[in-house]
Amino acid sequence: MSDIVIYLENNLTTGFIGKELHYLEVTSSTQDVAREMADHGAPEGTVVIAGTQQSGRGRLGRSWLSPEGGLATSIILRPAMPTVSLLPAISALAVFHTIKGLGIEAGIKWPNDILIGGRKVCGILIEHGLINGAVSYSIIGIGININFDTGQYPEIAGFATSLSVQMGHQLSVGQVALRLYTELEYFYLRSEKPDLILGEWAANMNTIGRRVKVQSGNSAVEGVAEAINGSGHLVLRLDDGSVQEIVAGDVSLIPGSG
Ligand code: BTN
Repeated sequence: MSDIVIYLENNLTTGFIGKELHYLEVTSSTQDVAREMADHGAPEGTVVIAGTQQSGRGRLGRSWLSPEGGLATSIILRPAMPTVSLLPAISALAVFHTIKGLGIEAGIKWPNDILIGGRKVCGILIEHGLINGAVSYSIIGIGININFDTGQYPEIAGFATSLSVQMGHQLSVGQVALRLYTELEYFYLRSEKPDLILGEWAANMNTIGRRVKVQSGNSAVEGVAEAINGSGHLVLRLDDGSVQEIVAGDVSLIPGSG
């Protein structure tokens, strides 16, 4: 059994996240493994972890690099309908607090990238399983760059970082995972207080008040990110004074804009 699983089984004190744990040395994508399990009735809180992924995927059709030393994990949740729209905030806050707990200053880039010093250390992909148009389960896919030198990978070297690069030493992946599942359960259980979740998400977002460019499909808009609304969408003030609500997209901060 992997060291991570032994560590988690001995130390995790959550009520349901990680009670069922599956570790794969190598897999295509933990999202696919978790989806298969969810389709076959896996309970809420089931966790899949991979040592490496061969076809890790990210938001907006991108791929996700998962070398050894990272944490690639998917968590099966079965949220009530009103909680579904809070999942980006809940998962971003879980990672944000995990990293903060290590003594590192991080920020959230809408919707749920986690950055350290402007460089991406974690990405989150949320996918849903639907039955008759209603969400029957959600899979929270989280990739954290932990113990590898992002500078050695040309495809991410320009914009990414890892916890070991930031801290100057290697960390226990098991300890990071334990914090992550604990924080995720904590914020998930607070979902009956959406204002608190959305408020804390927005408060830790480095996007608000900044001039940003948002790419959605083939179109891009520029403006000032003014706020996060009650649905978790980004409210953008365009240069002509009008307001646009962004539901999904890739945000880049425009340098020198505050
Ligand atoms: C992004 O930033 O675009 C999201 C990246 C999400 C990566 C994680 S790693 C674990 C899970 N399995 C995947 O294939 N993707 C997610």
